[in-house]
Amino acid sequence: MEDIIKELEKRREQAKLGGGQDRINAQHSKGKLTARERIDLLLDEGSFEEYDMFVEHSSTDFGMEKNKIPGDGVVIGSGQINGRLVFLYVKDFTVFGGSLSLAHSKKINKIQDMALKNNAPLIGVLDAGGARIQEGIDSLGGYSEVFQRNVLASGVIPQISLIMGPCAGGDVYSPALTDFIFMVRDTSYMFVTGPDVVKTVTNEEVTADELGGADVHTTKSSVADGAYNNDIDMLSDIRRFIDFLPSSNIQSAPIKETSDKASRSETSLDYLIPENSNTPYDIKEFIIKAIDEGDFFEIQPNFAKNIVVGFGRIEGYTVGFVGNQPLNLAGVLDSDASRKAARFVRFCDSFSIPIVTFVDVPGFLPGTDQEYGGLIKNGAKLLYAYAEATVPKVTIITRKAYGGAYCVMAPKHLRGDINYALPSAEIAVMGAKGAVEILYRKDIGDEDKIDKHTSEYEERFLNPFVAAERGYIDDVIMPRNVRPRIAKALKLLRNKKLSNPWKKHDNLPL
Ligand code: HXC
Repeated sequence: MEDIIKELEKRREQAKLGGGQDRINAQHSKGKLTARERIDLLLDEGSFEEYDMFVEHSSTDFGMEKNKIPGDGVVIGSGQINGRLVFLYVKDFTVFGGSLSLAHSKKINKIQDMALKNNAPLIGVLDAGGARIQEGIDSLGGYSEVFQRNVLASGVIPQISLIMGPCAGGDVYSPALTDFIFMVRDTSYMFVTGPDVVKTVTNEEVTADELGGADVHTTKSSVADGAYNNDIDMLSDIRRFIDFLPSSNIQSAPIKETSDKASRSETSLDYLIPENSNTPYDIKEFIIKAIDEGDFFEIQPNFAKNIVVGFGRIEGYTVGFVGNQPLNLAGVLDSDASRKAARFVRFCDSFSIPIVTFVDVPGFLPGTDQEYGGLIKNGAKLLYAYAEATVPKVTIITRKAYGGAYCVMAPKHLRGDINYALPSAEIAVMGAKGAVEILYRKDIGDEDKIDKHTSEYEERFLNPFVAAERGYIDDVIMPRNVRPRIAKALKLLRNKKLSNPWKKHDNLPL
């Protein structure tokens, strides 16, 4: 018996060493932590339960039968984050570059199945070179098994991908099927094919960072939702992030105790919106001053900055916030902003997180760039997302709600539950200049006449009252009361029940 215990200890030590001390040193020298160090930082102390530590591959090609490392390049298990259960798989780059063999894929499948069965989030930590080249088709099949489970778990449990090293092939497609992707700057990359293949096929010379670094994916491609400067910053912030999320679609997000009173009003907000309706202001100030303790977790802060999305809490309950951002492109809706917000709204709806929308939008962005880029379909994604959402929806029009953008941004007509406007709201088909130029084309050139028409239009339409008279706006509220009024609205909607007609699934305009 003693022998077996010694053998167990020896095997455990060996498995914990992964690809060996030299490769661990190489990992550290690149500024990356090892798989096990990452687990220690991500989970509550002592909560990790590891499975399949002794699994090895069964490949015999390329001399692989002589090259076996226990664990086979991925550490799987369960643990707790701030006391809540999560499942995780963490790629070990020191073992065959974290590449996926059949045995490795079966480990990931095991933890995916456990997460789904037990209604708890799945976190994947990726630092890996894709399909294990020596295993060929077994590896490709293994990836498809992972992808299939990603898809089945979508909308049932939150799935989060942390990209913490170079990731290629299947190690970028699985993350792409999950809800959120975060990257580490300078040490992590995501690409379908690496710089060498790019050079061979297209003759294009590009560095890994230029092709798929964190800045590329958080500012250009929008593949990733956020970037951090190093492993430690990322892992500690993910512990904060997970607290905003429910464990599954049949549970609620944890309610966080707060001493921030729902009745808190913010007089400074009365002065935030400038007199001149073309002068920008920061919509984030509304969001941050409305939420508990200003604790906002923004998603995609550096992409499509003309719209802001992210999580906050009101009275301890998680809320998804969407706000047009007048500081960027006057808050206009373009393809990127529409896609970004649509995906966020759909996540919130999947997981029963109420949505609060701040509207200040002059319309959709005109131009060939946008039209050729499919603005019609992209704008429709956001419209679709709001229209199908059955969670509580509270909307506050802060200033402009013009034209199609009014129709899209969670109005009463898309089953908005409580719709408020601030006194500065301008709800109309378009702004005064555009309207007058169309209605009084014959008077163009006669400044007096145009000025008179413009004043008339502004007085008649650019206010919240036309909509309020029709009941499209439930009330006109003071900016300082945004937090108390949202809190009251969300409280009365806490037991909201609404469902859509039965369907196999919808046909979102992709
Ligand atoms: C087997 C691999 C491997 C792989 C890396 N290694 N990738 N072993 N299969 N796919 C091994 C290396 O041999 C090396 O072993 C160790 O991992 C570290 O790799 P390095 O190249 O030395 O590291 P680095 O310079 O940091 O480069 C990392 C990398 C590069 C960018 C990931 O290794 C790479 O380009 N790998 C191949 C990527 C790829 O094309 N994968 C297949 C994609 S197709 P030693 O013993 O020296 O430590 C795919 C199919 C599914 O995934 C697609 C589904 C849609």
